[in-house]
Amino acid sequence: MTGSLTILGLESSCDDTAAAIVRQHGAARPRILSSVVYGQTDLHAPFGGVVPEIAARAHAEKIDLCVEEALARAGMSLVEMDAIAVTAGPGLIGGVLSGVMCAKGLATALDLPLVGVNHLAGHALTPRLTDQVAFPYLMLLVSGGHCQFLIAHGPETFTRLGGTIDDAPGEAFDKTARLLGLPQPGGPSVQAEAANGDCTRFRFPRPLLDRPGCDMSFSGLKTALLRARDAILADKGGLTVQDRADLCASFQAAVVDVLAEKTRRALAMYLEHAPDQPVLAVAGGVAANSAIRARLETVCAESGTRFTAPPLHLCTDNAAMIAYAGLERVRGGARDDMTLSARPRWPLDKTAPALLGSGRKGAKA
Ligand code: KG4
Ligand code: ZN
Repeated sequence: MTGSLTILGLESSCDDTAAAIVRQHGAARPRILSSVVYGQTDLHAPFGGVVPEIAARAHAEKIDLCVEEALARAGMSLVEMDAIAVTAGPGLIGGVLSGVMCAKGLATALDLPLVGVNHLAGHALTPRLTDQVAFPYLMLLVSGGHCQFLIAHGPETFTRLGGTIDDAPGEAFDKTARLLGLPQPGGPSVQAEAANGDCTRFRFPRPLLDRPGCDMSFSGLKTALLRARDAILADKGGLTVQDRADLCASFQAAVVDVLAEKTRRALAMYLEHAPDQPVLAVAGGVAANSAIRARLETVCAESGTRFTAPPLHLCTDNAAMIAYAGLERVRGGARDDMTLSARPRWPLDKTAPALLGSGRKGAKA
């Protein structure tokens, strides 16, 4: 298909219910006609993490409202869609099922093509939606459930160069916020506190830098933070505003250092493979962190590599990325049918061995 394509995308794999409409004429710049995200942060806040059953119920309640709102904002009706794209995994199974069942219902009722999308591919293809980045490129996908370096060769072809063997950085940010009594999601809260802190006060570990390759580990970091916090509590009986800011700044500096060094190595590996296409794209919720973005930009400058990062609202979970990934699949001739199933796990690189850890949110990104 080379003409105009208008795709309705649905996303419900973790704690955001989202619908969006994306259109592309031929090879022109794709346009997001609408993008609606209903977050569930308040529902999960009392429990200190995402509760799968609460998430699934909220998705089921909200997904059709989300679709209606996306259509209204775009000023369109369902019959104007060319296909329905939906996140079919990886993620929390109840939520993914809500989206997949809704998409199947719409596709059947409207007699439209249905395409299942890998949520991680949605993040990984976002630089093509926002900046029309050509294949191949190096992608750092860094979120609440994932952290991996991928070479993106095509819409459904990825090579994983390395990733976290335990927690994802977003998970570590969220845990840090919980330990310090800051609101969720932890990333933005910790970043805000870190802005007023001294990042040299605590020397937190930079795990796996002594090992070759670009695998990472973040679980030791939150343990180190817990110890530092407890030492202050034992000493002074409480944390001052400055203590908290210094802990956040020192934590964030450790994450930034690890991501910077591992990115340097992943870039070297990637540039051997594609010396004529020096591009690093970053995506996923943690890519919203300004300290991380700034440092990655510096690392890229060292090797004359182009750095691209989506705008903040397209770094965190959204359905525009799902609609766009679906659009690429539809253009490539892919179609799914009513046998499309929801997959809790769905690695992008099917040939790479499983990483050791999968994080709090399982295989979610
Ligand atoms: O990709 P995403 O929206 O979805 C999931 O992984 O579920 O990423 C969410 C993660 C959360 O862990 C959140 O704390 C983190 O991204 N995050 C950030 C920032 N904004 C969101 N982490 C660090 N700094 C930020 N500014
Ligand atoms: Zn995600």
